[in-house]
Amino acid sequence: MMVKKQEGTDAKLISPDIAGIAHAVDILRAGEVVVFPTETVYGLGADARSGAGVAQIFLRKGRPSFNPLIVHINSRVDAEIFSIFDSRARLVADTFWPGPLTLILPLRPGQTQIDPLVTAGLDTVAVRVPAHKIPRDLIAALGGAIAAPSANKSGTLSPTTPLHVMSSFGDDSPPIIAGGATRAGVESTILDLSVSNPVILRTGSITPDDLAPILGTIPAVVSDIYDETGRPKSPGLLLKHYAPRTKIRLRAIDVLPDEAVLAFGSTRFLGMRSNNLLRQERSGFVRDMIHPDRFRNLSETGDLVEAAANLFKMLHDLDGTNASCIAVMDIPSIGLGLAINDRLYRAAQST
Ligand code: TXA
Ligand code: MG
Repeated sequence: MMVKKQEGTDAKLISPDIAGIAHAVDILRAGEVVVFPTETVYGLGADARSGAGVAQIFLRKGRPSFNPLIVHINSRVDAEIFSIFDSRARLVADTFWPGPLTLILPLRPGQTQIDPLVTAGLDTVAVRVPAHKIPRDLIAALGGAIAAPSANKSGTLSPTTPLHVMSSFGDDSPPIIAGGATRAGVESTILDLSVSNPVILRTGSITPDDLAPILGTIPAVVSDIYDETGRPKSPGLLLKHYAPRTKIRLRAIDVLPDEAVLAFGSTRFLGMRSNNLLRQERSGFVRDMIHPDRFRNLSETGDLVEAAANLFKMLHDLDGTNASCIAVMDIPSIGLGLAINDRLYRAAQST
């Protein structure tokens, strides 16, 4: 039996054999999440192409904001499909991969392998090639990259055994490919190579001294921006966030003719205001009045997972329409709505 129930929990343990890996791939292809070991800690993975799958990661982790995730892939050559390596990045990758080193690199424009929710709309991407058979088999069988943060609830310690994963998620634990205790126990070193002077954003088992001979300089370490749980102490200081060029107006209940609309749920009660006159003639009126390029609905049925999966894609779409402003309808601050509102609020502040 490849899927068995652990006594006393609802966690499904998957064995790391061919049948188990194939089962895990089915789960990923269905837009769901699966936990797997790496040489550092256990990761909570989704198909990096699937916005719905990646939204599940944030839902499961209970993260109050969308932090960009690390993309796991099997080789530097495969990573070059969606990210850009200069000669410095190639040298570093070819020296330390596979292994516990994550590189922040420019996202390749026009790529289709990485959903915008993975990078939280940023134009950089965190990439690493794990040195562990299970994720390598999983990536190969999926035929694509896997986005994965550590497999724990937000604000708790990173898990190094399936038991840690289960105790963090409780009854709600996602399926776990069981691979015993992880070797390193500390998360990968994160090296930002998207900037001219390399910076270590998170220390790990690969040290500045290990990197120095390859980089030709000892990289600066930003050691105190992350707290003990790996969360940035002052978000926004170094962790950039996506900011559209177009102004953003939150909690819109009506729309001006030259605005773009980011809707959520039913637009029945959304009005159109022109010459100071509010018109709300019939259901779907605004929808008919606005150019289709300037209208996006995060989720017509008001589903927050669907909304999360669409958020950055739709903001990018609307940002390119030369509208005077993006009017965003109210989104409830529950579940994933918290993370959606956090990003919208930051975007609104920075325009
Ligand atoms: O060892 C590890 O790295 C584990 C295993 C599962 O691979 N993963 C892990 O992921 O620790 P996570 O999500 O817990 O930490 C990823 C960190 C976050 O602090 C995030 O802010 C940062 O990487 N990050 C991701 N993309 C970034 C980007 N484009 N720019 C700056 N920081 C980024
Ligand atoms: Mg973490």
